[in-house]
Amino acid sequence: RPKFAPFNTCQDATTGTSGASGASGPKFASFNVCQDPTFGMGHYQSPVPLVTNAPLNHAIGSPGIVSSWTEWQPLKEVIVGRCELSCKPGNEPAFEAKLKSREHALFSAEPGLRSDEAIATGQDELAGLVDVLEKNGVTVRRPDVVDWSKPYSTPDFEVPCGNTSAMPRDVLLTVGNEIVESTMSWRARFFEYRAYRTLLNEYFERDPNFEWTAGPKPTMADHLYHYDFPHEARGGESDNVRSELAEKRIYIHTEAEPIFDAADVMRLGRDLFVCNSFTTNRKGYDWLRRRFNKRGLRVHFLDFPKDTAPMHIDVLFVPLSKDTVVLNPVRPPRPWVERMLRENGWKVIWGVSQGLPTPPLSQCSEWLSLNVLSIDDKKVLVEAQETRVMDLLSKHGFEPIPVPLRSIAEFGGAFHCCTADVRREGPLESYFP
Ligand code: ARG
Repeated sequence: RPKFAPFNTCQDATTGTSGASGASGPKFASFNVCQDPTFGMGHYQSPVPLVTNAPLNHAIGSPGIVSSWTEWQPLKEVIVGRCELSCKPGNEPAFEAKLKSREHALFSAEPGLRSDEAIATGQDELAGLVDVLEKNGVTVRRPDVVDWSKPYSTPDFEVPCGNTSAMPRDVLLTVGNEIVESTMSWRARFFEYRAYRTLLNEYFERDPNFEWTAGPKPTMADHLYHYDFPHEARGGESDNVRSELAEKRIYIHTEAEPIFDAADVMRLGRDLFVCNSFTTNRKGYDWLRRRFNKRGLRVHFLDFPKDTAPMHIDVLFVPLSKDTVVLNPVRPPRPWVERMLRENGWKVIWGVSQGLPTPPLSQCSEWLSLNVLSIDDKKVLVEAQETRVMDLLSKHGFEPIPVPLRSIAEFGGAFHCCTADVRREGPLESYFP
């Protein structure tokens, strides 16, 4: 079982003392020291240069049924998850570490089906969301009902049950005409793609331009996890230790295999931002970088050192239009990120939260307040009780639409998480001049 790999600290990115800018073209390289993919990977190194100069391949980006380049272009078709037969996963290494504390209700909860009541409430909320989307002219598709309560094993591990079909954003990464099935990173989520196979087959049959790809399936054998990762749930390590580790980008996963959850990626046209986290390692980032560099996109490395159990970028870095991004004040990115955004003409809004508690059997935080879904570059779906978020967005010229969606946190997220883009109108563009 692995110990932590030797780790190079990246002083520039940590302290924010980056090089000078001034060259023409997008201002990235001088800031993003940690774009260097060799950074912090120990023995794992990639020879591929990061910022691509490859021409954009418009031919393969021509719009069909599947086409979505950003988080904010006008939404036309979307997958909304479902809660039926969702489960509480068993205590596998990555899940346990995410919970941090023994006090967490999920730590002692029996793995298996979630309560009928939680499932019914979640389904009602999702029905309300579907209604709002359809009233706004969006075609809504739903995944298959999958029984997640069956135990399964592979040659490398066994688990008492799966997870859910409620969180398509974690599984499906839409980039233009391509949908990538993510590798996932929890054993309980290994087979989660199965909920979307009927839909993906249909899109493949109907849309000749649809490119259907998948990240390499990890074995998720023991070598993928830091079994010595400290967390209170296994006996009393404090959050301080975890802060030090987060600062050094040491997470629950090793670099043994590439892993990524699709919800660790934000799409800003030609630029994709990927979060190193408990669900995406550096090798997973590098898989995405190589894949999309070939298509002329630029793939950037982000991390959020104040987050001691980072999982998914969509409460941390939330783009709302071609020049506005919301950041999380409690878990900000490294200092170069804000400067890079501002120097490229972006407005940075610091997010807010009502601070309301999440359901006991949820592993999400009150910052789901920022887990919004844009219908276009003005209209944003916001949780109905998050009035502070709505006020903030209105002040900046957006049109928040309140939708009740609180109990869905038990299934792993909110608006952004429980949806996955199929089609947004509009071409591939660069928003970093
Ligand atoms: N880690 C986030 C939190 O602090 C939850 C993100 C959920 N996102 C998702 N795509 N499932 O609450």
